[in-house]
Amino acid sequence: MLTLALSKGRIYDEAVKLLGRIGIEPAEDPDKSRKLILPTTRDGLQLLIIRATDVPTYVEYGAADLGIAGKDVLVEYDATGLYEPLDLGIARCRLMTAGKPGMRLSQGARLRVATKYVKAAQRYFAAQGIQAEIIKLYGSMELAPLVGLADCIVDVVDTGNTLRANGLEPKDLIMEVSSRLILNKAAMKMKHEAVTGFIDELKQALDRSE
Ligand code: ATP
Ligand code: PRP
Repeated sequence: MLTLALSKGRIYDEAVKLLGRIGIEPAEDPDKSRKLILPTTRDGLQLLIIRATDVPTYVEYGAADLGIAGKDVLVEYDATGLYEPLDLGIARCRLMTAGKPGMRLSQGARLRVATKYVKAAQRYFAAQGIQAEIIKLYGSMELAPLVGLADCIVDVVDTGNTLRANGLEPKDLIMEVSSRLILNKAAMKMKHEAVTGFIDELKQALDRSE
């Protein structure tokens, strides 16, 4: 049995389409069922429905053999016990700095940056030679510059609608983000045939759609 961990919402919605292309369908809809373990139409595969930020943890500890997680989440988790065999190209967005219009993020005074992406932000500002004090938040980062908590934020941006709705604008690109298939290192050894077979199937489905 292979176990694949993924989060509800945009990753699940796009991942299910991808799984459908290799003939796999979940037995239940996680939005209707309260179940956290979902069987699928393939006897050898079940899904674990968990928070996006918990996916690398389940996979690193081997509670799930495989997982689907955004590159933003993987950079923050900073795992060494995982393989990342495939870019699934789903849930695409960009990790960016953002702030009030006209505000420039440049060297000089120490910047206050609100974000849930602490590691990515620390690395980015250090590489730019900008002194930054990082304030850890868990969501609604757009509020921070509006109420004087921070000078700018680091968050994922897709359409830019959330920034615009809050009178902010995107500034600099930190990295392009998409969701990756991740794999527990021990599962690669212990379940080699099943794991590599599944990865190949997904890879072929992705290649066909290119
Ligand atoms: P949680 O709800 O558990 O706090 P989350 O809000 O990060 O986690 P999602 O919003 O489902 O969970 O995001 C999952 C992943 O999708 C993110 O890690 C990121 O890679 C990507 N993502 C986030 N926002 C967007 C967006 N607006 N457009 C496209 N992809 C996005
Ligand atoms: C994400 C992210 C941004 C928004 C960006 O939030 O935190 O706020 O998407 O997308 P946009 O550029 O298309 O507006 P999400 O919708 O996932 O809500 P969340 O705060 O629950 O994560």
